[in-house]
Amino acid sequence: MATINQNYSKLNSSYLFADIAKRTKLFKENNPGVEVMRLGIGNTTEPLSPSVIQGLALGVHKLSEVTTYTGYGDEQGDARLRTALAVYYSQLGITLQPDEIFVSDGAKADSANISSIFGADNIVAVQDPVYPVYVDSNVIYGRSGPYTDGVYPGLRYLACTAENGFIPDVPREHVDIIYLCSPNNPTGAVATHSQLADFVAYAREHQAVLIFDAAYSSFITDPSLPRSIYEIEGAMECAIELNSFSKSAGFTGVRLGWCVVPMELVVQGTAKGEVNSVWNRRQTTMFNGASNIAQEGGLAVLTEQGQMECGLIVNYYMENARIILEGLQRLGLNVFGGVNAPYIWVKTQNRMSSWDFFEVLLEGAHVVCTPGVGFGRLGEGYVRLSAFGHRENVLQAVESITRNVRI
Ligand code: MLT
Repeated sequence: MATINQNYSKLNSSYLFADIAKRTKLFKENNPGVEVMRLGIGNTTEPLSPSVIQGLALGVHKLSEVTTYTGYGDEQGDARLRTALAVYYSQLGITLQPDEIFVSDGAKADSANISSIFGADNIVAVQDPVYPVYVDSNVIYGRSGPYTDGVYPGLRYLACTAENGFIPDVPREHVDIIYLCSPNNPTGAVATHSQLADFVAYAREHQAVLIFDAAYSSFITDPSLPRSIYEIEGAMECAIELNSFSKSAGFTGVRLGWCVVPMELVVQGTAKGEVNSVWNRRQTTMFNGASNIAQEGGLAVLTEQGQMECGLIVNYYMENARIILEGLQRLGLNVFGGVNAPYIWVKTQNRMSSWDFFEVLLEGAHVVCTPGVGFGRLGEGYVRLSAFGHRENVLQAVESITRNVRI
């Protein structure tokens, strides 16, 4: 008889964003005609920029003629796009070869798949609160016990609190793999060079691997903050970086991302280049490459014109962030993030739980947020608001919270 992967039964019952969608749907059924303003999931809303549309259209057009038609491409990605990404890194002062960059259909899948190349006995540390995919994927790969009292025994949690500015200290004990996300989802905090340098030093000392999620790097407005882990000396030896076109170019539905596995990265018992080739083996076996249309769009994003146009859309979302941040500050709420990141992390009032505050915002102001506790135990007592939305919707949401929610 077939059996199921029992690790799935260790997971918390449902995926956070699915839970929120269910509650929102119920509210809408019970309140027909009421318009709900969605500042929950970080889902882009603004149309793609003209040059990116042209790139995608070119991708479609190429499929229409026998001379330019392509079927399966390289599993690692179109060589032109890998080269363009290497050029993107060179603008940050980072030297990468195209074969260290693997194009994918988005950072979410990469962030879940990457730890499959490491042994099941690795000790994994995550930030708390944390993007749930890092945790759930490691549970599925068998690196923890069943969900108990808000945590997974076996995983190590690095506390992110208001006291440490939501950037954790390096672990006090030995761990093998550390997930870092900066700019952070959900707290909106951004690690400085020196904070990341501490993690790189830790990783080199412990022969640990950092899995650095830079999906929100284009939202950094302060030029002194690092946009890539490879801006830190020594990171090539110990870090994998994930990034995405989703939020920076509006590809949440188009699907395109990348993963950097430097040749210099080594783990116990491997020589230089071996981790890169194991990831290559994984990708060639389980992935047929990103859509050729999406990759043509990605090439357009990385042109000078594309970068300029996408920058305008990023600025639009960051103006939303400012509106939300300042609106909630005026109300007297304690708010974080939202300056170099598209997420605003809000402390609930009077020790209200995250889900209770979610209900207050939904019932009272018709605004959907994301309960902080859904990102981990230390997210309790917070909610996250996303700056991805139409401007009129964001203004209306802030106005409705101001008018209807008694703080
Ligand atoms: C979020 O809201 O945290 C993100 O949109 C989820 C994701 O990128 O998968």
